[in-house]
Amino acid sequence: MFRLRLEALVAVAALISASCADVLTRGLCSRDDPDVQALGSALSPTAEIYFPGSDEFEAATTRWSVLETPTVNVVVVPGTENDVVATVKYANKKRLPFLVYNGVHGAITTLGRMDSGVGISLGKLSSVKIAGDGNTATIGGGTFSKTVTDTLWAAGKQTVTGTCECVSYLGPALGGGHGWLQGHHGLVADQLVSARIVLADGTLKTIDANSDLWWAIGGAGHNFGIVTSVTTKIFDIEHRDWAIETLIFSGDKLEAVYQAANDLLADGTQSADLINWSYWLNIPDFDPDHPVIMFYIIQQGVTAVDPTYTSPFHAIGPLSIQPQAGTYTDLAGWTGIANTSPPCQNAGLVNPRFPIYLYEYNVAALRTAYDTYAEAIGGSSVFNASLFMFEGYPTEGVRAQGLESSAFAFRDRRLLAAPLITYSPLDAERDAEAARVGNQLRQILHDASGLQEFGVYVNYAYGDETPEQWYGSEEWRQDRLQGLKAKYDPSGKFSFFGPVA
Ligand SMILES: Cc1cc2nc3c(=O)[nH]c(=O)nc-3n(C[C@H](O)[C@H](O)[C@H](O)COP(=O)(O)OP(=O)(O)OC[C@H]3O[C@@H](n4cnc5c(N)ncnc54)[C@H](O)[C@@H]3O)c2cc1C
Ligand SMILES: *[C@@H]1O[C@H](CO)[C@@H](O)[C@H](O)[C@H]1NC(C)=O
Ligand SMILES: *[C@@H]1O[C@H](CO)[C@@H](O)[C@H](O)[C@H]1NC(C)=O
Repeated sequence: MFRLRLEALVAVAALISASCADVLTRGLCSRDDPDVQALGSALSPTAEIYFPGSDEFEAATTRWSVLETPTVNVVVVPGTENDVVATVKYANKKRLPFLVYNGVHGAITTLGRMDSGVGISLGKLSSVKIAGDGNTATIGGGTFSKTVTDTLWAAGKQTVTGTCECVSYLGPALGGGHGWLQGHHGLVADQLVSARIVLADGTLKTIDANSDLWWAIGGAGHNFGIVTSVTTKIFDIEHRDWAIETLIFSGDKLEAVYQAANDLLADGTQSADLINWSYWLNIPDFDPDHPVIMFYIIQQGVTAVDPTYTSPFHAIGPLSIQPQAGTYTDLAGWTGIANTSPPCQNAGLVNPRFPIYLYEYNVAALRTAYDTYAEAIGGSSVFNASLFMFEGYPTEGVRAQGLESSAFAFRDRRLLAAPLITYSPLDAERDAEAARVGNQLRQILHDASGLQEFGVYVNYAYGDETPEQWYGSEEWRQDRLQGLKAKYDPSGKFSFFGPVA
């Protein structure tokens, strides 16, 4: 009887010795398959192939959120960009679906449509090379945000990346990419000057602003190819110092807190140096029955947040005030998204988010949302580890690119709100209840916003939204995306993550 090899294996040896016909389907893993052998000999010596049952396969495919996850029956770990080409060509020849596995924090439920195919895990394509002139860096397609930030920081440089350490650099970028420095420079994607991309037919291209595809990459990029590396603008570190104040309020202070947040910069000119985030979450030591409001005010270029911004909040009567000072590299730890923080653990939980872009805090709607949220997730509810996130990044640099400059459609919105309903997996009924709560919460905020259509950050999306909600409801946007899809991916090989059509 054939036995499944349990360990990770170097490419050629793996392909020739792997024998798993009793486990796998579609002839994917048959020892005698000439296509498999051809793939093996086409891969570089550093490539690896993992089969189900091995620790390496488990590690590569275990995701942050376990709702409607993709499934694959083999994982290829390319050692070079040409290995990505060979793998895509192999999958196409075998008529197998394929999907990139990068930071595995993608949680949109459309990923669940990926069923038995080839996972392409980019972890070996991790590199950051700063150009001689110090103006750009070339970043491998499988590099994590933290690696980018730390490598650049050590060289006195920085660029816009996602804020979370355990997310890949490119996952956020392909949907636009929000980060601490966006108020100055724009979204993560706005920094890119060129990309190496493997298209649906397996061809490898370098694209830049001269390509019609360029407009789509920074917003709907998941739909068009596998990015093996990018060259991005980088900047001298402007401010080494950063400071934060973390304020915790009881729920009854909600109106005062968000009124103060609106008032402080009522004319909409939030300084590019200032970020405010808040989370609603249960901290039983502060309040055993209701979620508290954790409000972060973050400022760059200072060692303590300017009292102009903090004193109105102090006057409201917080339960706790915690100032901290350090550098840019401390931000992820301060805001609970460092590699060691809970959201960076792939702990087998279900983690759907229900995002909505807004213009401002609507205090009355926030009260309704808070009461609804408190009832659903308070006390000993199975959803009691949930987090309602409000991200008030500065947006000046994002708007400055021009509202139509890329497939990212929501440059004029100032606020990103998203309940994250966290729970242990149980059954369809619990999933449906979580979706009901999450959708109800964003509906409350939407109804009060006066906006016609939801704007949804595709990288946070639940998965039941429409392409108009992910990519903007303007007809020209939809036409443009569909035209590009028909040209570059007519058979929908890259249609598992927020498909444009
Ligand atoms: C804790 C947490 C913090 C977050 N923080 C931020 C943040 O600060 N800013 C922000 O903008 N977003 C943030 N996000 C959202 C994030 O952008 C998405 O979750 C993103 O999909 C994660 O990418 P990944 O590579 O980690 O996940 P994966 O699941 O590996 O990738 C998601 C999808 O991206 C595509 N993809 C990834 N890499 C490539 C590539 N090289 N080429 C082609 N396609 C690729 C694939 O379609 C894949 O299915 C956060 C998410 C979490 C869970
Ligand atoms: C959530 O509820 C469980 C009991 O169901 C309890 O043990 C746990 O402490 C609660 N967690 C929080 C954060 O309230
Ligand atoms: C917080 O951010 C929001 C959204 O960007 C903005 O409207 C508000 O003025 C900011 N408030 C503070 C105190 O920074």
